[in-house]
Amino acid sequence: PYVIAAPCIDVMDKSCIEECPVDCIYEGERKLYINPKECIDCGACEPVCPVEAITQDRRASDAEFVEDNRRFFTEALPGRDAPVGTPGGSNKTGPIGVDTPLVTSR
Ligand code: F3S
Ligand code: F3S
Repeated sequence: PYVIAAPCIDVMDKSCIEECPVDCIYEGERKLYINPKECIDCGACEPVCPVEAITQDRRASDAEFVEDNRRFFTEALPGRDAPVGTPGGSNKTGPIGVDTPLVTSR
């Protein structure tokens, strides 16, 4: 899958959301996250991000953010009882509205 790294924080351009054919990019409070279980690796989101926050996970220079994109979906985030999981599209969930502890700490 592809991942979104630190440059997205507080920028949230959201051009990536419009490109994704499977709607697997979810909105936190200060950053967006790609669901690694739903991303089909099409790569359409990568060139449209104006701050180059998106890369393929095996090429990502920031391993911390590879893990963090996964954690956004698999762990209960601050203020939420259950993990986001694999809901099948961000148009179904709407903005999640919270971030991972890593992103909150930046
Ligand atoms: Fe963030 Fe870039 Fe998307 S800034 S919201 S990853 S277009
Ligand atoms: Fe969507 Fe980007 Fe993956 S467009 S399918 S998140 S590579």
